[in-house]
Amino acid sequence: MTANSGVSCSFMLACPTDRARLEIEGDAARCPICGCVYARTNQIWRFVDHRLAPYENFLATYRVVRRAEGWGSHDAAYYCNLPQTSRDDPQAAIWRVRAASFKKLVALVEPGARLLDVGAGNGWLSYQFARRGHAVAALDLNDDAREGLGAQNFYPLPLDCYQADFDHLPFDAAQFDVVIFNASLHYSRNLTQTLNEAWRVLKPNDKLIVMDSPLYRQRASGKAMLREKANEFQSRYGLEMDRTMRGFLTFDDFQQSVCAWQWYPTRVDWRWALRPLRARALGQREPAQFGVTVGKPPAARWT
Ligand SMILES: C[S@@+](CC[C@H](N)C(=O)[O-])C[C@H]1O[C@@H](n2cnc3c(N)ncnc32)[C@H](O)[C@@H]1O
Repeated sequence: MTANSGVSCSFMLACPTDRARLEIEGDAARCPICGCVYARTNQIWRFVDHRLAPYENFLATYRVVRRAEGWGSHDAAYYCNLPQTSRDDPQAAIWRVRAASFKKLVALVEPGARLLDVGAGNGWLSYQFARRGHAVAALDLNDDAREGLGAQNFYPLPLDCYQADFDHLPFDAAQFDVVIFNASLHYSRNLTQTLNEAWRVLKPNDKLIVMDSPLYRQRASGKAMLREKANEFQSRYGLEMDRTMRGFLTFDDFQQSVCAWQWYPTRVDWRWALRPLRARALGQREPAQFGVTVGKPPAARWT
């Protein structure tokens, strides 16, 4: 049996524990070193087993809050059209930002690039690139039928889905042209570990893209946003917000990392552009910025 032979999986899988290349037979992948067997069920490769336990509270809270906030739908057309939504969508304002960032992202990704969509959620971005002819792996902890990888059933194309922790990616080294954290890097509990895993699976000199994580100049502004959110979770839903994840990023976080980053701010309209000025005038905290940040290892040259 050869590694990854005879299956529709487009990527070389590796054991998230010891990184050995997995041997695949049908819907099972076996690690030749530790003997662990990972299964594919409901079209999703499962790499979480014991790794899900530390995230169970987070996922339960996430599900309740996202439903209450009106994310997701029973309608396949909703998923296939994302990031475009109807004007009366409860999250239309956020999807407008996402759509503007996505437009920039599409311009930055070379035709035919092999992508890893990290924190893929319902897989809308994976679907958008898959239908443009890219090989895409959608990875998330969450397999919920509306908010997680289970939503793949809404798309007319099959998605390559992996339920896994982004700190322990189930892929062999150096096989993606682009790794995209799509509104997900701020969920990291250990930024260095999360980014190192992404660099490991990227081909040398290729692109790591961080899209639409809330970004602040001042760390204090991000912390204030988290306090507001935690209060809202408590007062509206009676739930504790997960405090182990970062929750936001700062420009300093990028400057302190070892690679070279380029930042493309997302601009929606003039009202959006004036948010920082308006907040200052009203004595409010700095609002989050969103956009696309592209990282290349320090040795790589920008073209
Ligand atoms: C705000 S959602 C973004 C989902 C999707 N990318 C989108 O644009 O709609 C963040 C996602 O990151 C996922 N996530 C958080 N921590 C993760 C981890 N350690 N490993 C993998 N996914 C994670 C969550 O389950 C969630 O689906």
